[in-house]
Amino acid sequence: MATLSQPEPPATKSGSQTIQIEDVHKYYELGETRVHALRGVTVSIRQGEFVAIMGASGSGKSTFMNILGCLDKPSSGRYLLDGVAVSDLSKKELAAIRNRKIGFVFQGFNLLSRTTALENVELPTLYARVSKEEGRKRAEEALHLVGLGDRMLHFPSQLSGGQQQRVAIARALVNRPTILLADEPTGNLDSRTSVEIMEVFQKLNDDSLTIVLVTHEPDVAQFARRGIHFRDGKIRRDETVTSRPRAAEVLKNMPALED
Ligand SMILES: Nc1ncnc2c1ncn2[C@@H]1O[C@H](COP(=O)(O)OP(=O)(O)OP(=O)(O)O)[C@@H](O)[C@H]1O
Ligand SMILES: [Mg+2]
Repeated sequence: MATLSQPEPPATKSGSQTIQIEDVHKYYELGETRVHALRGVTVSIRQGEFVAIMGASGSGKSTFMNILGCLDKPSSGRYLLDGVAVSDLSKKELAAIRNRKIGFVFQGFNLLSRTTALENVELPTLYARVSKEEGRKRAEEALHLVGLGDRMLHFPSQLSGGQQQRVAIARALVNRPTILLADEPTGNLDSRTSVEIMEVFQKLNDDSLTIVLVTHEPDVAQFARRGIHFRDGKIRRDETVTSRPRAAEVLKNMPALED
């Protein structure tokens, strides 16, 4: 029959919904006062998405990211990561998931100053179940991926801000996470260098890495595929980025930095 030979629609595997957040609330208790940082957040993020999280200071962005990254638990509501209910896990199990699935990049690059780029990137492999040789090989690969193949033996002080952030990205990738979380990764960088970092993110996302990025800057957010806006602990807007520029193209029309 004709209908039988028609291609099947893409299967929606249960695992394809990487992140499922359901009515999540987060309270911080501070002495007598209680801060209600997230007020009922519901959102799904699928494998391979590239999401920019925006919103005013104090709107709950970092709180949300800490929950996504299993650094903190919701006060109520559910978080399913690849179908697993994170709230049911022990601290040890959370740490294991974090090491295996999630890479973090922060505004401050948090590199160890007395060790080379290569050693900085290698560090997380020491806590993963890989041999020393394999760890070194992965670290070299990650540095090549972010365009720092020729800077592996430099110390952080011998690198520009953008290069240091790329080392931090390589470090976040070295254990081959499926999700990259970045909280204001371009906050300390000039505008050209920020676009260079977004070029790296777009390339990684092209290779199907899921990326969730917090930024205050619309110029940075435009490179993502989806924008989620927080206000007062809630998602107020969730939209697809329609005319997404390629960072590599934008860079061609930006003046190079003078030495
Ligand atoms: N550890 C904490 N203890 C108590 N209150 C906290 C804690 N962390 C955050 N908050 C409060 O929760 C609310 C949300 O903070 P959060 O850090 O998530 O905001 P944000 O959107 O990341 O802001 P910014 O853009 O300034 O980084 C704020 O009112 C903040 O003061
Ligand atoms: Mg924050």
